[in-house]
Amino acid sequence: MGKRFYVTTAIYYTNGAAHLGHAYEMVVTDVIARARRSFGEEVFFLTGLDEHGLKVQQAAAAEGKTPQAYCDELATQWRDLARLLGLSNDDFIRTTEPRHRSVVEAILTRLHATGEIYKAGYEGWYSVREETFLTDKDRNPDGSWDAKWGQVIPLVEENWYFRMARHQDWIIRYLEEHPEFVQPESRRNEVLGFLRSEKLEDLCISRPAARLGWGIPLPFAPEWVTYVWFDALTNYLTVPASLGDPAATAALGPEYVAPDTGISLWPPDLHVIGKDIVKFHAVYWPAMLQAAGAALPRQVLAHGWWQKDGQKLSKTTGNLVDPVVVISEWGLDAFRYYLVRELAIGPDGNWTDESFRSRYNAELANGLGNLLNRALNMLNKYREGVVPAVSQELAGDAEQARAETERLLRANDLQGALGSIWSLVNRANLYVEQTQPFKLAKDPAQASRLDEVLYNLVEACRVLAVMLAPFIPHTAARIYAQLRLEGTPDRWSLGTWGGLTPGHRVGTPEPLFPRKDLVPKPPR
Ligand code: ME8
Ligand code: MG
Repeated sequence: MGKRFYVTTAIYYTNGAAHLGHAYEMVVTDVIARARRSFGEEVFFLTGLDEHGLKVQQAAAAEGKTPQAYCDELATQWRDLARLLGLSNDDFIRTTEPRHRSVVEAILTRLHATGEIYKAGYEGWYSVREETFLTDKDRNPDGSWDAKWGQVIPLVEENWYFRMARHQDWIIRYLEEHPEFVQPESRRNEVLGFLRSEKLEDLCISRPAARLGWGIPLPFAPEWVTYVWFDALTNYLTVPASLGDPAATAALGPEYVAPDTGISLWPPDLHVIGKDIVKFHAVYWPAMLQAAGAALPRQVLAHGWWQKDGQKLSKTTGNLVDPVVVISEWGLDAFRYYLVRELAIGPDGNWTDESFRSRYNAELANGLGNLLNRALNMLNKYREGVVPAVSQELAGDAEQARAETERLLRANDLQGALGSIWSLVNRANLYVEQTQPFKLAKDPAQASRLDEVLYNLVEACRVLAVMLAPFIPHTAARIYAQLRLEGTPDRWSLGTWGGLTPGHRVGTPEPLFPRKDLVPKPPR
């Protein structure tokens, strides 16, 4: 078995329910995973949950639950959401699982043994609420502490540190020499700017267990637990290592043993994450891996953040978009489509109910839905649903759209890829206006011209199903079913023009996206 295309999302904190932003990241990653599979690659898509840390401990305490019970309940909710979103993930990791704990222990043991981790004392100020050490630079000009820090207490304690400072120079060089490593370009420049202007400090990787009970104890000093980022980033290593991938277990030293399943995943091909955690993935993570002797991930792709109506998504103000509510009202594929079509991977986005509704009606109901509906209706009405002889009239347009869409998908430009697919939707709808098949049908002398037009329309729908499958797989399957084709349109090679064979009988159309103009309530 060759190496699979290994793609991951961030892992989500289990201190609340998922919102639009989380769903976006999962859907984007799913589209990439499905596209690669369609191209014939073997893929491994990982998502999951980040369950340790003070925030989770506090959220559990606030509900009078143990952290584990609290996480178990939320994990069920998040898994349900992954299923509801139609994710094609191959695994779902929780950082409280034993397989993760043993990998975290093994990498810590190794880094400790090779001198990459040391203990040092700390004396200074500590924000209880933000769980962070403060220095005099963090004080207000008048010497007071800002309200955002909550209670600030003097603290003397010992902790464990990872020698990160020594990695600064090579990471700068690495980023310079591998422009593809952090994308988009603007995020890469941000990281480079930070690395060139600020001195990297060694990373504190522990908290005293007395203060933070909810974490993985350091294997060489169990009075401390592993602090969040070291624990969280290692999730990407856990799955390949526990499947015995030798390229992953190489980071863990000889005491780590896992049965070799023959799978080959490491290194990750793509980490899809939000803009706020680029530094952790583009600086801390490479430093950790290099120190442990493992190959680096090939790419970190950072998306922007969603707002709603120009405001931050916020639990406290109730300014949230609940994916479950939108999907129950509009359907999964309308939601998936809107997320990817509205926002390119990079800039921030803004959800408005009006723009959702307008894309739904214009692009899905009138654009794609209407095309399939007209193509099938006319073929049924004029030719009893029987596919006429192959015609090449739209073949060039379809092949061009398919090549362009593939190129954009490979470059992770999902929004552009949908634009390219819609160039074919629009071309085919325009073709109906130009050829006027309803007029041709009235003139027996135009019978063979009508055959040509009908072939081009239904075949364009078939090719569209293949191209749409990574984005809106359910709709793509429905198009295939209405064309009465066997199987699913999940292989890119099926999109070659001429797949519908003369004499094949199609089905009757059912609206893909029922019009919603009369629905009074937009999604909340
Ligand atoms: O940061 N729009 O978890 P998290 C788009 N556990 N994306 C958003 C968003 C928004 N409004 N809000 C959050 C963590 N995200 C860590 C990650 S990875 C080893 C550990 C994205 O639950 C955010 O950018 O706070 C991140 O990629 C993901 O959701 C998880 O955020
Ligand atoms: Mg966050």
